Amino acid sequence: MTSTISTATPVDRQGPTADRTFVAARARSDVLERDLRTHPERHRVLTGDRPTGPLHLGHYLGTLRNRVRLQALGVPIFLVIADYQVVTDRDATGPLRDRVRNLVADYLAVGLDPERTAIFPHSAVPALNQLLVPFLSLVSAAELERNPTVKAEALASRRAVSGLLLTYPVHQAADILCCGGTVVPVGRDQLPHLEIARLIARRFTERYGPVFAEPAALLADAPAVLGTDGAKMSKSRGNAVDLSASADDTAAAIRAARTDDERHITYEPRRRPEVANLLTIAASLSGRTPAEIADEVGSQGAAALKNLVTAVVNDDLAPIRARRRELIAEPDYLDAVLAGGTATVTGLAVETLDRVRAAMGMRYLG
Ligand code: TRP
Repeated sequence: MTSTISTATPVDRQGPTADRTFVAARARSDVLERDLRTHPERHRVLTGDRPTGPLHLGHYLGTLRNRVRLQALGVPIFLVIADYQVVTDRDATGPLRDRVRNLVADYLAVGLDPERTAIFPHSAVPALNQLLVPFLSLVSAAELERNPTVKAEALASRRAVSGLLLTYPVHQAADILCCGGTVVPVGRDQLPHLEIARLIARRFTERYGPVFAEPAALLADAPAVLGTDGAKMSKSRGNAVDLSASADDTAAAIRAARTDDERHITYEPRRRPEVANLLTIAASLSGRTPAEIADEVGSQGAAALKNLVTAVVNDDLAPIRARRRELIAEPDYLDAVLAGGTATVTGLAVETLDRVRAAMGMRYLG
Protein backbone atom coordinates (compact mmCIF):
# COMPACT_ATOMS: atom_id res chain seq x y z
CA MET A 1 0.00 0.00 0.00
CA THR A 2 1.30 3.46 -0.76
CA SER A 3 0.66 6.66 1.11
CA THR A 4 -2.65 8.00 -0.08
CA ILE A 5 -2.85 11.20 1.86
CA SER A 6 -0.80 14.33 1.51
CA THR A 7 1.69 14.24 4.37
CA ALA A 8 3.59 17.49 4.03
CA THR A 9 5.92 17.68 7.02
CA PRO A 10 8.71 20.17 7.67
CA VAL A 11 11.08 17.50 6.39
CA ASP A 12 9.49 17.65 2.94
CA ARG A 13 10.52 21.28 2.73
CA GLN A 14 14.15 20.79 3.65
CA GLY A 15 15.42 21.07 0.09
CA PRO A 16 17.76 19.00 -2.02
CA THR A 17 19.83 17.46 0.78
CA ALA A 18 16.77 16.06 2.51
CA ASP A 19 15.49 14.82 -0.86
CA ARG A 20 18.75 13.01 -1.58
CA THR A 21 18.78 11.54 1.92
CA PHE A 22 15.23 10.36 1.37
CA VAL A 23 15.92 8.79 -2.02
CA ALA A 24 18.94 6.95 -0.62
CA ALA A 25 16.99 5.81 2.44
CA ARG A 26 14.10 4.66 0.23
CA ALA A 27 16.46 2.52 -1.85
CA ARG A 28 18.07 0.96 1.25
CA SER A 29 14.66 0.38 2.75
CA ASP A 30 13.46 -1.56 -0.33
CA VAL A 31 16.50 -3.82 -0.27
CA LEU A 32 16.04 -4.31 3.45
CA GLU A 33 12.38 -5.23 3.09
CA ARG A 34 13.31 -8.05 0.71
CA ASP A 35 16.09 -9.30 2.96
CA LEU A 36 13.80 -9.31 6.01
CA ARG A 37 11.61 -11.83 4.21
CA THR A 38 14.43 -14.16 3.22
CA HIS A 39 16.76 -13.78 6.22
CA PRO A 40 14.77 -12.51 9.20
CA GLU A 41 17.31 -13.95 11.66
CA ARG A 42 20.05 -11.63 10.35
CA HIS A 43 18.22 -8.55 11.58
CA ARG A 44 17.07 -6.88 14.76
CA VAL A 45 14.26 -4.37 14.75
CA LEU A 46 14.38 -1.47 17.17
CA THR A 47 11.22 0.56 17.54
CA GLY A 48 9.55 2.55 20.28
CA ASP A 49 7.07 5.05 21.62
CA ARG A 50 7.00 7.85 24.14
CA PRO A 51 4.58 7.00 26.98
CA THR A 52 2.63 10.25 26.81
CA GLY A 53 -0.88 8.83 26.44
CA PRO A 54 -2.94 5.97 25.04
CA LEU A 55 -2.24 4.51 21.60
CA HIS A 56 -4.81 5.25 18.94
CA LEU A 57 -5.98 4.13 15.52
CA GLY A 58 -3.20 6.17 13.87
CA HIS A 59 -0.60 4.16 15.78
CA TYR A 60 -2.41 0.94 14.97
CA LEU A 61 -2.50 1.54 11.22
CA GLY A 62 0.83 3.36 11.11
CA THR A 63 3.15 1.27 13.28
CA LEU A 64 1.57 -1.42 15.44
CA ARG A 65 0.35 -3.59 12.58
CA ASN A 66 3.76 -3.32 10.95
CA ARG A 67 5.48 -4.46 14.14
CA VAL A 68 3.21 -7.48 14.33
CA ARG A 69 3.98 -8.21 10.67
CA LEU A 70 7.74 -8.04 11.29
CA GLN A 71 7.37 -10.25 14.35
CA ALA A 72 5.52 -12.80 12.21
CA LEU A 73 8.40 -12.79 9.71
CA GLY A 74 10.62 -14.00 12.55
CA VAL A 75 12.69 -10.84 13.10
CA PRO A 76 13.57 -10.27 16.78
CA ILE A 77 11.97 -7.05 17.97
CA PHE A 78 13.11 -4.64 20.67
CA LEU A 79 10.41 -2.23 21.71
CA VAL A 80 11.60 0.71 23.78
CA ILE A 81 9.20 2.65 25.95
CA ALA A 82 11.04 5.96 25.77
CA ASP A 83 10.09 7.28 29.19
CA TYR A 84 12.97 9.76 29.47
CA GLN A 85 11.76 11.29 26.21
CA VAL A 86 8.58 12.38 27.97
CA VAL A 87 10.57 15.16 29.67
CA THR A 88 12.31 16.43 26.53
CA ASP A 89 9.72 19.20 26.19
CA ARG A 90 7.79 19.31 29.47
CA ASP A 91 8.45 19.54 33.19
CA ALA A 92 6.36 16.67 34.54
CA THR A 93 6.50 12.97 33.76
CA GLY A 94 2.72 12.49 34.16
CA PRO A 95 1.10 9.29 35.45
CA LEU A 96 3.90 7.18 33.98
CA ARG A 97 3.36 3.93 35.83
CA ASP A 98 -0.19 3.74 34.62
CA ARG A 99 0.69 4.85 31.09
CA VAL A 100 3.48 2.33 30.79
CA ARG A 101 1.22 -0.53 31.90
CA ASN A 102 -1.43 0.62 29.45
CA LEU A 103 1.14 0.72 26.68
CA VAL A 104 2.23 -2.84 27.45
CA ALA A 105 -1.42 -3.90 27.41
CA ASP A 106 -1.89 -2.22 23.99
CA TYR A 107 1.19 -3.97 22.59
CA LEU A 108 0.18 -7.41 23.78
CA ALA A 109 -3.45 -6.90 22.77
CA VAL A 110 -2.53 -6.18 19.14
CA GLY A 111 -0.47 -9.36 19.02
CA LEU A 112 3.07 -8.54 20.06
CA ASP A 113 4.42 -11.60 21.86
CA PRO A 114 6.81 -11.12 24.80
CA GLU A 115 8.64 -14.29 23.77
CA ARG A 116 9.65 -12.66 20.50
CA THR A 117 9.47 -8.96 21.30
CA ALA A 118 11.45 -7.47 24.20
CA ILE A 119 9.43 -4.61 25.69
CA PHE A 120 11.45 -2.35 28.01
CA PRO A 121 11.50 1.20 29.43
CA HIS A 122 14.86 2.76 28.64
CA SER A 123 15.14 4.34 32.09
CA ALA A 124 15.46 0.79 33.50
CA VAL A 125 18.64 -0.01 31.56
CA PRO A 126 21.64 1.89 33.03
CA ALA A 127 24.13 0.57 30.46
CA LEU A 128 21.97 1.95 27.63
CA ASN A 129 21.97 5.39 29.20
CA GLN A 130 25.70 5.31 29.80
CA LEU A 131 26.30 4.90 26.07
CA LEU A 132 24.99 8.41 25.75
CA VAL A 133 28.27 9.82 27.11
CA PRO A 134 30.64 8.52 24.44
CA PHE A 135 27.96 9.02 21.78
CA LEU A 136 27.63 12.72 22.62
CA SER A 137 31.32 13.14 21.83
CA LEU A 138 30.72 11.88 18.29
CA VAL A 139 28.34 14.63 17.14
CA SER A 140 28.79 18.38 16.98
CA ALA A 141 26.45 20.90 18.53
CA ALA A 142 25.77 22.25 15.01
CA GLU A 143 24.72 18.80 13.78
CA LEU A 144 22.25 18.53 16.64
CA GLU A 145 20.99 22.07 16.16
CA ARG A 146 20.17 21.62 12.48
CA ASN A 147 18.13 18.44 12.91
CA PRO A 148 14.81 19.47 11.26
CA THR A 149 12.65 17.20 13.42
CA VAL A 150 14.14 18.54 16.65
CA LYS A 151 13.66 22.07 15.28
CA ALA A 152 9.99 21.34 14.56
CA GLU A 153 9.46 19.82 18.00
CA ALA A 154 11.23 22.72 19.68
CA LEU A 155 8.94 25.16 17.85
CA ALA A 156 5.83 23.19 18.72
CA SER A 157 6.75 23.05 22.41
CA ARG A 158 6.83 26.88 22.62
CA ARG A 159 9.46 26.87 25.33
CA ALA A 160 13.24 27.03 25.71
CA VAL A 161 14.92 24.03 24.07
CA SER A 162 16.17 21.70 26.81
CA GLY A 163 19.51 19.95 26.56
CA LEU A 164 17.60 16.69 26.49
CA LEU A 165 15.45 17.76 23.54
CA LEU A 166 18.53 18.77 21.59
CA THR A 167 20.28 15.48 22.32
CA TYR A 168 17.39 13.05 22.19
CA PRO A 169 18.34 11.72 18.75
CA VAL A 170 21.63 10.69 20.42
CA HIS A 171 19.68 8.98 23.19
CA GLN A 172 17.67 7.25 20.49
CA ALA A 173 20.96 6.09 18.95
CA ALA A 174 21.77 4.52 22.33
CA ASP A 175 18.36 2.76 22.32
CA ILE A 176 19.10 1.36 18.89
CA LEU A 177 22.78 0.52 19.21
CA CYS A 178 22.79 -0.89 22.77
CA CYS A 179 20.99 -4.01 21.62
CA GLY A 180 22.46 -4.33 18.14
CA GLY A 181 19.47 -2.86 16.35
CA THR A 182 19.89 -2.95 12.56
CA VAL A 183 16.40 -2.07 11.35
CA VAL A 184 14.39 0.92 12.48
CA PRO A 185 10.86 1.27 11.07
CA VAL A 186 10.22 4.98 10.66
CA GLY A 187 8.05 7.54 9.01
CA ARG A 188 9.80 10.13 6.88
CA ASP A 189 9.78 12.70 9.70
CA GLN A 190 11.96 10.42 11.85
CA LEU A 191 14.66 9.97 9.18
CA PRO A 192 16.91 12.78 10.49
CA HIS A 193 17.13 10.93 13.83
CA LEU A 194 18.16 7.75 12.16
CA GLU A 195 20.79 9.65 10.18
CA ILE A 196 22.31 10.67 13.53
CA ALA A 197 22.33 7.06 14.74
CA ARG A 198 24.06 6.02 11.51
CA LEU A 199 26.59 8.83 11.87
CA ILE A 200 27.36 7.79 15.44
CA ALA A 201 27.86 4.14 14.48
CA ARG A 202 30.14 5.19 11.61
CA ARG A 203 32.22 7.64 13.61
CA PHE A 204 32.61 5.23 16.49
CA THR A 205 33.98 2.66 14.04
CA GLU A 206 36.37 5.21 12.49
CA ARG A 207 37.74 6.34 15.83
CA TYR A 208 37.72 3.21 17.96
CA GLY A 209 37.02 0.18 15.77
CA PRO A 210 34.05 -1.97 14.85
CA VAL A 211 31.54 -2.33 17.66
CA PHE A 212 28.38 -1.14 15.91
CA ALA A 213 26.66 -2.00 12.66
CA GLU A 214 25.03 0.95 10.91
CA PRO A 215 21.29 0.71 11.40
CA ALA A 216 18.96 1.32 8.44
CA ALA A 217 15.51 2.83 8.19
CA LEU A 218 12.61 0.70 7.12
CA LEU A 219 10.34 3.32 5.64
CA ALA A 220 6.68 3.00 6.46
CA ASP A 221 4.23 2.25 3.69
CA ALA A 222 1.24 2.83 5.90
CA PRO A 223 -1.21 5.65 5.28
CA ALA A 224 -0.96 8.72 7.48
CA VAL A 225 -4.26 8.85 9.29
CA LEU A 226 -5.88 12.15 10.13
CA GLY A 227 -7.80 12.83 13.30
CA THR A 228 -11.50 13.64 13.49
CA ASP A 229 -10.76 17.36 13.03
CA GLY A 230 -8.77 16.90 9.81
CA ALA A 231 -5.37 17.48 11.45
CA LYS A 232 -2.88 14.67 12.04
CA MET A 233 -4.29 12.17 14.56
CA SER A 234 -2.50 12.81 17.81
CA LYS A 235 -3.08 12.24 21.48
CA SER A 236 -2.38 15.87 22.29
CA ARG A 237 -4.97 17.25 19.84
CA GLY A 238 -7.83 15.22 21.31
CA ASN A 239 -8.87 14.12 17.82
CA ALA A 240 -7.94 10.46 18.14
CA VAL A 241 -9.84 7.18 18.30
CA ASP A 242 -8.04 5.31 21.07
CA LEU A 243 -7.48 1.57 20.84
CA SER A 244 -8.96 1.36 24.32
CA ALA A 245 -12.09 3.40 23.51
CA SER A 246 -15.49 1.71 23.76
CA ALA A 247 -17.50 0.92 20.62
CA ASP A 248 -19.92 3.71 21.55
CA ASP A 249 -17.18 6.30 22.07
CA THR A 250 -15.69 5.25 18.75
CA ALA A 251 -19.04 5.74 17.03
CA ALA A 252 -19.45 9.17 18.66
CA ALA A 253 -15.93 10.28 17.66
CA ILE A 254 -16.40 9.18 14.05
CA ARG A 255 -19.88 10.73 13.89
CA ALA A 256 -18.33 14.04 14.98
CA ALA A 257 -15.52 13.82 12.42
CA ARG A 258 -15.28 16.75 10.07
CA THR A 259 -16.30 16.14 6.43
CA ASP A 260 -17.47 18.61 3.76
CA ASP A 261 -20.69 19.88 2.10
CA GLU A 262 -20.71 17.58 -0.91
CA ARG A 263 -23.19 14.78 -0.52
CA HIS A 264 -21.79 12.40 -3.11
CA ILE A 265 -18.81 10.53 -1.65
CA THR A 266 -15.72 10.43 -3.87
CA TYR A 267 -12.11 9.61 -3.17
CA GLU A 268 -10.14 12.80 -3.87
CA PRO A 269 -7.38 13.06 -1.27
CA ARG A 270 -6.19 16.52 -2.27
CA ARG A 271 -9.53 18.22 -2.75
CA ARG A 272 -11.45 16.33 -0.02
CA PRO A 273 -8.89 15.30 2.62
CA GLU A 274 -11.37 14.63 5.44
CA VAL A 275 -13.59 12.34 3.36
CA ALA A 276 -10.52 10.67 1.89
CA ASN A 277 -9.24 10.06 5.38
CA LEU A 278 -12.37 8.20 6.43
CA LEU A 279 -12.21 6.16 3.23
CA THR A 280 -8.54 5.39 3.89
CA ILE A 281 -9.24 4.15 7.40
CA ALA A 282 -12.02 1.85 6.19
CA ALA A 283 -9.92 0.66 3.25
CA SER A 284 -6.88 0.00 5.31
CA LEU A 285 -8.83 -2.17 7.76
CA SER A 286 -10.87 -4.05 5.17
CA GLY A 287 -8.28 -4.73 2.47
CA ARG A 288 -10.31 -2.84 -0.14
CA THR A 289 -9.36 0.34 -1.96
CA PRO A 290 -10.65 3.76 -0.87
CA ALA A 291 -12.18 4.26 -4.34
CA GLU A 292 -14.20 1.03 -4.08
CA ILE A 293 -15.64 2.11 -0.78
CA ALA A 294 -16.41 5.58 -2.17
CA ASP A 295 -18.33 3.95 -5.04
CA GLU A 296 -20.30 1.81 -2.65
CA VAL A 297 -21.34 4.75 -0.46
CA GLY A 298 -21.82 7.18 -3.38
CA SER A 299 -24.87 9.35 -2.94
CA GLN A 300 -25.75 8.00 0.49
CA GLY A 301 -23.51 10.74 1.87
CA ALA A 302 -21.22 11.32 4.80
CA ALA A 303 -23.51 9.82 7.45
CA ALA A 304 -23.54 6.50 5.63
CA LEU A 305 -19.78 6.66 5.17
CA LYS A 306 -19.33 7.27 8.88
CA ASN A 307 -21.57 4.32 9.75
CA LEU A 308 -19.49 2.12 7.49
CA VAL A 309 -16.20 3.33 8.99
CA THR A 310 -17.54 2.87 12.53
CA ALA A 311 -18.59 -0.70 11.78
CA VAL A 312 -15.25 -1.59 10.21
CA VAL A 313 -13.22 -0.01 13.03
CA ASN A 314 -15.31 -1.53 15.82
CA ASP A 315 -15.31 -4.98 14.16
CA ASP A 316 -11.58 -4.95 13.67
CA LEU A 317 -10.78 -3.66 17.13
CA ALA A 318 -13.32 -5.80 19.03
CA PRO A 319 -10.99 -8.77 19.70
CA ILE A 320 -8.10 -6.42 20.49
CA ARG A 321 -10.24 -4.51 22.94
CA ALA A 322 -11.49 -7.70 24.61
CA ARG A 323 -7.95 -8.97 25.02
CA ARG A 324 -6.86 -5.58 26.30
CA ARG A 325 -9.50 -5.63 29.01
CA GLU A 326 -8.25 -9.01 30.20
CA LEU A 327 -4.66 -7.83 30.23
CA ILE A 328 -5.31 -4.62 32.09
CA ALA A 329 -6.90 -6.68 34.87
CA GLU A 330 -3.53 -8.38 35.37
CA PRO A 331 -1.02 -5.67 36.28
CA ASP A 332 1.40 -8.22 37.77
CA TYR A 333 1.58 -9.99 34.45
CA LEU A 334 2.17 -6.70 32.60
CA ASP A 335 4.97 -5.84 35.03
CA ALA A 336 6.50 -9.28 34.56
CA VAL A 337 6.53 -8.73 30.79
CA LEU A 338 8.42 -5.48 31.32
CA ALA A 339 10.84 -7.15 33.71
CA GLY A 340 11.54 -9.89 31.16
CA GLY A 341 12.16 -7.42 28.34
CA THR A 342 14.34 -5.28 30.59
CA ALA A 343 16.46 -8.29 31.58
CA THR A 344 17.01 -9.27 27.93
CA VAL A 345 18.03 -5.77 26.90
CA THR A 346 20.17 -5.22 29.99
CA GLY A 347 22.17 -8.34 29.13
CA LEU A 348 22.83 -7.04 25.61
CA ALA A 349 23.50 -3.45 26.70
CA VAL A 350 26.01 -4.49 29.37
CA GLU A 351 27.88 -6.52 26.76
CA THR A 352 27.82 -3.61 24.31
CA LEU A 353 29.04 -1.14 26.91
CA ASP A 354 31.86 -3.51 27.81
CA ARG A 355 32.95 -3.65 24.17
CA VAL A 356 32.75 0.14 23.99
CA ARG A 357 34.95 0.45 27.08
CA ALA A 358 37.44 -1.98 25.60
CA ALA A 359 37.54 -0.14 22.27
CA MET A 360 38.06 3.19 24.05
CA GLY A 361 40.79 1.83 26.31
CA MET A 362 38.64 2.08 29.42
CA ARG A 363 38.46 -1.55 30.47
CA TYR A 364 40.33 -1.16 33.74
CA LEU A 365 38.54 -3.68 35.88
CA GLY A 366 39.03 -6.97 34.01
N1 TRP B 1 11.18 9.10 19.18
C1 TRP B 1 10.28 8.01 18.96
C2 TRP B 1 8.87 8.59 18.93
O1 TRP B 1 8.61 9.65 19.48
C3 TRP B 1 10.36 6.93 20.03
C4 TRP B 1 11.71 6.28 20.12
C5 TRP B 1 12.60 6.40 21.14
C6 TRP B 1 12.31 5.44 19.15
N2 TRP B 1 13.71 5.68 20.89
C7 TRP B 1 13.58 5.07 19.69
C8 TRP B 1 11.93 4.96 17.91
C9 TRP B 1 14.46 4.27 18.98
C10 TRP B 1 12.81 4.15 17.19
C11 TRP B 1 14.07 3.81 17.72
O2 TRP B 1 8.00 7.94 18.37
